[in-house]
Amino acid sequence: MNNETTYIGRPMNRVDGYAKVTGDAKYAADYHAKGLCYGVVVSAGIARGRIVDIDTSAALQLEGVLQVFTHQNVSGLAWFNRSYKDMDAPPGKHFRYLQTDMVAYSQQPVALVVAETFELARYAATLVNISYEADAHTTSLTGNLDKARPPKGKKTGFKKPANRGHFDKAFKEAPVRAEATYYQGAEHHNPMEMHATTVLYYKNGSITVYDKTQGVLNTQSYVKSVFGLSGKKVKALSPFVGGAFGSGLRPQYQLFMAVLAALELKRSVKVMLTRQQMFSLGFRPITQQTLSIGAVEDGSLQAISHQAVSGTSQFEDYVENIVNWSGMLYHCKNVQQDYKLVSLDTYTPLDMRAPGAVTGVFGLECAMDELAYKLNMDPLELRRINYSVEDGSMKKPYSSKGLMDCYEQAAARFGWSQRNPAPRSMKTGRLLTGWGMATGMWDAMTVPARAKATFTADGKLTVGSATADIGTGTYTIMTQIAAETLGLPIDNVTFQLGDASLPFAYLEGGSATAASVGTAVQKACLQIRERLLSLAKDIPDSPFRELSIEQLTFADGKMYMIETPANFIHLKDIMTLTETDAVNVTSTPLPNIFKQMKYAKNTHSAVFVEVQVDEELGLVKVSRVVSAIAAGRILNPKTARSQIMGGIVWGISGALYEESVMDHQFGRFVNHNYAEYHIPVNLDINDIEVIFVEENDDVVNPLGVKGVGEIGQVGVAAAVANAIFHATGKRIRDLPVTLDKLL
Ligand code: MOS
Repeated sequence: MNNETTYIGRPMNRVDGYAKVTGDAKYAADYHAKGLCYGVVVSAGIARGRIVDIDTSAALQLEGVLQVFTHQNVSGLAWFNRSYKDMDAPPGKHFRYLQTDMVAYSQQPVALVVAETFELARYAATLVNISYEADAHTTSLTGNLDKARPPKGKKTGFKKPANRGHFDKAFKEAPVRAEATYYQGAEHHNPMEMHATTVLYYKNGSITVYDKTQGVLNTQSYVKSVFGLSGKKVKALSPFVGGAFGSGLRPQYQLFMAVLAALELKRSVKVMLTRQQMFSLGFRPITQQTLSIGAVEDGSLQAISHQAVSGTSQFEDYVENIVNWSGMLYHCKNVQQDYKLVSLDTYTPLDMRAPGAVTGVFGLECAMDELAYKLNMDPLELRRINYSVEDGSMKKPYSSKGLMDCYEQAAARFGWSQRNPAPRSMKTGRLLTGWGMATGMWDAMTVPARAKATFTADGKLTVGSATADIGTGTYTIMTQIAAETLGLPIDNVTFQLGDASLPFAYLEGGSATAASVGTAVQKACLQIRERLLSLAKDIPDSPFRELSIEQLTFADGKMYMIETPANFIHLKDIMTLTETDAVNVTSTPLPNIFKQMKYAKNTHSAVFVEVQVDEELGLVKVSRVVSAIAAGRILNPKTARSQIMGGIVWGISGALYEESVMDHQFGRFVNHNYAEYHIPVNLDINDIEVIFVEENDDVVNPLGVKGVGEIGQVGVAAAVANAIFHATGKRIRDLPVTLDKLL
């Protein structure tokens, strides 16, 4: 018995790892039922207009085809409830599938073919003959910047950028200025598991929905509201998710299609999207941004302006915090930020890993590098000089901010002091070597969550919350927190999630799950401790009778007296001696809002990148990355490192590979497949080193956890682009940096 942690902070393997690698873990499309039938979605071939005719007769003639749902026969079967429920819906008129003949975007789902087998449904879908009357469409952001307008309405989490000081005057007077415009195309969610839903239909009209989602309660409330069903009729489950990155924050259309077909046909139904159809969901929005930064000769920032324009759909206003980081990251008195939208004939964009920051910090951190060159100053030194101990937008100190340590540790590890600052000055054989760096920043949010816990006489603990594990390690870290708090061997603890009947948890997003659900799990286990003590007091001649919970500690399945650790009782014995089968609690932790309100709560990173550029072929290889992360307490360095590495890989991917090409003639992303939408393969990814700079933070939550799901990606693309500039002297301001831009 000592004060060291047993599980928290240890690099534990995933508790669900065995189930995942052996195939025991079942994903939404893995469920089967007697009489299961299959739905295949037909997608629209035009970007805007109307369906003149939709001929389903050839499909329906095939034996085994059960129905083809279109706007002609679905109208009135769903969308009863005007209060469409979706926890992540942006403001606007949410799109209702199969309700009208209007086409509002290319690849809009316009029919669902349901058949006895998947192959038959897929074949029958090719026989659905649709004729359209096309209208003119608008899919170019840069061609329509004159139509940019402020976002309508409000969305949870969207912070209206706050300006301060007098940018125009300060920028004009600044002796050194950098001004540039950056462009990023749409980036598409491509988790390994495509979106899928299996609906099991029961004779009494109730359904069990296995859905790919980042929040099973969102699935359940969406189905209830859209189909007018009571909660008792809808079970929603999502125990395993094969990645999501934001695509599972909103209910996707396969959920609507599968539930619709199940209710109408009174059959169990499975609908899975194809890889191509994954490009018909939301995506990271097309964005153009302009940064103007002014400084004096010693490097002190005088003025920052960050103006961004993003695309959204015609029916919803998707917004994200792109420009806000420029008002927070550095010390600067005069800041002007603006963010506008252009409505395009695409589907609504959607949160994608570190939404807003991946885009906005790319612009800011490239512009800082451009400024450093104009100042003839080391880019890292420029960041150090302008370090801010407070969030200048809110004028609040940070609850903790280990960024300076990140700079120092990552720079030392990388060998930054050996850098020759001149572009084209470093070579490795015939390759140009470039070293670049950037800062990253993300939110440290704690959102409401509840958990229940049951401790049974066999010494086992089961804890549950309706949260998700989208590959992030939720199962593992919650098990660690529970085992640690109640002092149990980890094998005695089971954590349950992905079930709408469990206590409330918000969507797994915003890097908030470890902090939020973790706090609820910890609190539930502390409540179990209290209950066990009060039971122990009931034991005849109990030595615990006069003791308070603060005088006790829990470890190795026992409750110890802190002052006299030789005095202890097995938790199992408390249960047996008091003839108790189970102790049940539900926790509802309330954050200390008054304490939290005084602080800004964020995570930070410093990322250093080495590239090797083959100028003859225009090829870039990211040979080395060192990233230092300040994200509060790290619950599990192994799963946390995986999170950060995944973010770094995706940052490299956004910088060098991912590019969806919109063919404006057809208004569609034409390379909607893995062959032409490039993502990095193993050969593209080399040395990645992750350093955790732990922060002690008792403001964010009792665990001191800030979350690591998104910070790993922020800043990486800028560091890559800055390294490419250092290698080649070429400043590429639109991503990805493909070979044509370097030749
Ligand atoms: Mo994340 S984009 O909050 O799933």
